[in-house]
Amino acid sequence: MLDLKAQYQSLRDEIRQAIDGVLDSQMCILGPAVRGFEEQIDEMIPPARTLGVSNGTDALLIALMALEVGPGDEVILPPFTFFATAAAVLRVGAKPVFVDIEEQTFNIDPDLIEQAVTPATKAIMPVHLFGQCAAMTPINAVARAHSLHVVEDAAQALGAKQNGTAACALGDIACVSFYPTKNLGAAGEAGLVATANPDLLERCRILRNQGMEPRYEHHYVGGNFRMDAIQGAVLGVKGRHLAEWNAKRAEHASLYDRLLGGASVTTPSTGEGNTHVYHQYTIRSARRDELKSFLADRGVGSDIHYPIPLHLQPCLRDHGDGAGNGAGDFPVAEQAAAEVLSLPIYPELTREKIEYVADSIRRFSGDA
Ligand SMILES: Cc1ncc(COP(=O)(O)O)c(C=O)c1O
Repeated sequence: MLDLKAQYQSLRDEIRQAIDGVLDSQMCILGPAVRGFEEQIDEMIPPARTLGVSNGTDALLIALMALEVGPGDEVILPPFTFFATAAAVLRVGAKPVFVDIEEQTFNIDPDLIEQAVTPATKAIMPVHLFGQCAAMTPINAVARAHSLHVVEDAAQALGAKQNGTAACALGDIACVSFYPTKNLGAAGEAGLVATANPDLLERCRILRNQGMEPRYEHHYVGGNFRMDAIQGAVLGVKGRHLAEWNAKRAEHASLYDRLLGGASVTTPSTGEGNTHVYHQYTIRSARRDELKSFLADRGVGSDIHYPIPLHLQPCLRDHGDGAGNGAGDFPVAEQAAAEVLSLPIYPELTREKIEYVADSIRRFSGDA
């Protein structure tokens, strides 16, 4: 499914040198390595500016804290995403309000958002799932009409664009994850917050460090959300290759598209105006579980992102008290959860391997 060692080997000496630089300096938290990495990403996503933080989950938490989302507030988000998106909302004491997704892109359906807005709604949190942006023009229009904040969960989409604007510069504030399997992966945990609003950025900067500014004076209850300098140094080396790696992923995706054309599976669709960075190449099949085991028998890794939509998660679903959502509430997300299968995609993947995966899928479908 993924070979992280190949990428590490190609940059091994440079990464080790960068880590040595941090160890020699003994500036182990934030410091110049993190600042240098932030500046590198600032250039990629103008006019947004960034802050390196501890991980993507904390980035979401900081964004909501900075916007003062809390108890009594509602946040609109899709039910088809990684759990962390909803967890951040729950952690600040707010209520996640789910809105179903589009069948084509797996992203929140902008046409359904307005009807979910209530007087308690404080923010919309679109997720740029699998590496392509949610439809931000209509999302921002609803937000403007109801004075809501827009928090982009861009955990999977650094480098993606919509109509020429980078993911992270499309809403009020954005969050990225550098979990090692992401398109840009750290050597451990890391994430970032990005915003073009200087006041919001400053509030996030203070929240990142225990709400403290100046030293030992605490204006807010923040947290220890600081990025390790070693992660900043590693990401600084790897970040220089992100554009080229994302282009490779897109090349692989178009090869898959071509080889799977006419097969009995649905290949991914790209939304209007989107430049997709293919964090995942996710197909749909009505016989998904059988296909997954067929591929496993042929030595092909695949993964299900995600098998249970958030509204049906044990901690969020209706337990008979009418407090949660139930099966059938978000049919498009539920069908996606039953049909999706992510295929191997990473920059170092070879043409032969893609051909083998596609050939295996065609054999399964009786199309070969
Ligand atoms: C959509 C989404 N949101 C949030 C996160 C959380 O990021 P992290 O694992 O860095 O905390 C992830 C990463 O796994 C993600 O995919």
